[in-house]
Amino acid sequence: MKIPTAPRGRKAVALLLAGVAIVASACAEDAPQDALRPEGPFAQKADDLWNLVFPIAVVIFFIVQGLLIYALVRYRHRPGREAAQFHGNTKLEVLLTAIPALILAGIAVPTVRTIFDITNEPTGDVLDVTVVAHQFWWEYRYPDLGIVTANELHIPTGRPVRVRLEGAPVDRVDNSAEVIHSFWVPRLAGKQDVVPGRVNLITLQADEPGTYLGQCAEFCGLAHAEMRLRVIAEDPGNFDEWVQDMKDGAAEPSEALVAEGQKLFAEGQFPNGPPCSACHAVEATYEPENPPAQAGPNLANFANRETFAGAIFKNTAEQLRPWLRNPSEVKEGAKMPAVGLTEEEIDSLIAYLQSLD
Ligand code: CUA
Repeated sequence: MKIPTAPRGRKAVALLLAGVAIVASACAEDAPQDALRPEGPFAQKADDLWNLVFPIAVVIFFIVQGLLIYALVRYRHRPGREAAQFHGNTKLEVLLTAIPALILAGIAVPTVRTIFDITNEPTGDVLDVTVVAHQFWWEYRYPDLGIVTANELHIPTGRPVRVRLEGAPVDRVDNSAEVIHSFWVPRLAGKQDVVPGRVNLITLQADEPGTYLGQCAEFCGLAHAEMRLRVIAEDPGNFDEWVQDMKDGAAEPSEALVAEGQKLFAEGQFPNGPPCSACHAVEATYEPENPPAQAGPNLANFANRETFAGAIFKNTAEQLRPWLRNPSEVKEGAKMPAVGLTEEEIDSLIAYLQSLD
């Protein structure tokens, strides 16, 4: 008895549809990390190159696959038919070597030019920023401005930002060897690795004010997927205000709860760990010859941040509470310890953090 099966044609269509559905699921309108909507000249250059190379690759793909499928079907095995027996075809081989070589040489010209355009020292009024990657957060140092911050990178619009990606050789929490991370803000620039003990350079620029999302793009441990970042681009005036705000620091607390939180932060001794200040600074001050040594992110101006902990949680009391209670429970792999805070201590620490503006 013959077991009934779906006709082969229908199976092929179903398979094709499933494939298209999987590919199409990657499409999104208004995706925050959409590299196809560049927002600055450096991302634009990479996008222009893509717009040139991709259609060429598509055409070649369909020609090659079409010929392959044609040959498979047209010359498939049939009973009683023997394949032609021959060895080599010099003319064809020369042609098939020369055509790809010419195409590659043609594509190499704009590719190499773009690589140099993007990598070379930018001209004009450049802002220097040093980015240090940690498990699992980002540190941003502004050597000319003398400030440091974390996870949310503020930049002025319309100005090239020269980013020096410094791979820390040693993790400051537990002195283990640091690992490779990758700094990626798709709408502002390409992707660049941050390698322990090395310096890589990348330039980004935002033409319009806005918040541009990014993330670590190199697997770096348990919380790799939760090592996000934000670039907040502001008009130069607003950016200068932010810098001044960072330099000014927070006012002395006037509320009792805030003062209590400040005391706990600075000198509280908890069952399972030192005070918060052992790992976190609340002053933004940074001197290039004396780089930050604290294990955790700098928290200056924390109240004005949108997010925390590798830019994955919203900066609200609701999200701060479970984080302070037990960081690795809400962000697996997080290196901040659960120091054993009481709920009352958490209340005052949240009040203090939210007063840092
Ligand atoms: Cu850092 Cu992935």
